[in-house]
Amino acid sequence: MSTTNSVVASGSVSGAPWGSDAHLQVVPPPPSLGALGAMVEPLHESAKMSAVGLRASFGAREILKGISIPLYEKHVTAIIGPSGCGKSTFIRCLNRMHEVVSGATSVGQVHLDGQDIFSMDPVRLRRRVGMVFQKPNPFPTMSIRDNVLAGLRLNGLKVAEPDALVERALRQVALWDEVKDGIHRSGLSLSGGQQQRLCIARTLAMEPEVILMDEPCSALDPIATARVEELIHELKKDYTIVIVTHNMQQAARVADYTAFFYMGELIEHDRTDVIFTRPAQQRTEDYITGRFG
Ligand SMILES: Nc1ncnc2c1ncn2[C@@H]1O[C@H](COP(=O)(O)OP(=O)(O)OP(=O)(O)O)[C@@H](O)[C@H]1O
Ligand SMILES: [Mg+2]
Repeated sequence: MSTTNSVVASGSVSGAPWGSDAHLQVVPPPPSLGALGAMVEPLHESAKMSAVGLRASFGAREILKGISIPLYEKHVTAIIGPSGCGKSTFIRCLNRMHEVVSGATSVGQVHLDGQDIFSMDPVRLRRRVGMVFQKPNPFPTMSIRDNVLAGLRLNGLKVAEPDALVERALRQVALWDEVKDGIHRSGLSLSGGQQQRLCIARTLAMEPEVILMDEPCSALDPIATARVEELIHELKKDYTIVIVTHNMQQAARVADYTAFFYMGELIEHDRTDVIFTRPAQQRTEDYITGRFG
């Protein structure tokens, strides 16, 4: 494991020019996040997180080739692109899970509230930037209740009022009414969709600020998917969300912004409606219309 944090983009963070790469779209911030004048000022001032010139490799193989992108606060950003283009690698860099893999390295900058994540304690960072995985992964030997508390306990954190916290987290994911009479049952006794909401509750119990979701609905049926999508819509009032998805309709439904990745590069990043109705790049159009991928 090694991580190098040299500055790839020239100049300081505040000088990071979002529009300097020809293929990078300059994305106006949402109206609530500042005036369009922010195109002159660095846009990531209004971003909860931002990557600047982020490169990531497995051994000698470079997977991410200099990704610069703002992730706007209390908005949903979808990451789309063909299999193998680096979507999971990208979001795993955002909470430093990438570097946990043997031989994996990253170079460049990632900021959370303007602070370099590579100078933070990774355990604390992962509490602030939580992750939900593709396959629901409740701890099989734990009850529903203990699954909600698992992240906190694994981090050695004392919970003053565990029952209140469990109820709050399960209410947040709209699971409380379905499980309140069987809170001590195994997490595995739940349906796939319920298990995924339980895993989201486990992430929320950590009180994160950013939630990374890697294809959170790919193992779910359409009804369970719709519930998770509704939940994402609710959660963005309080959290900054980044979701990887292969489902174009899902990106169009849940995301405020969409980023199209291709072979380790960010081809285009813009408001979701722009990406899906009038993308600037031919490769984006080819992908969203199913011409490749
Ligand atoms: N642990 C690893 N060791 C070596 N190479 C890896 C590892 N994980 C991923 N890769 C490689 O990195 C590249 C990007 O993988 P990544 O999982 O980020 O793609 P993805 O866009 O998420 O794809 P998918 O849509 O299939 O999930 C792929 O070529 C993959 O083979
Ligand atoms: Mg992936």
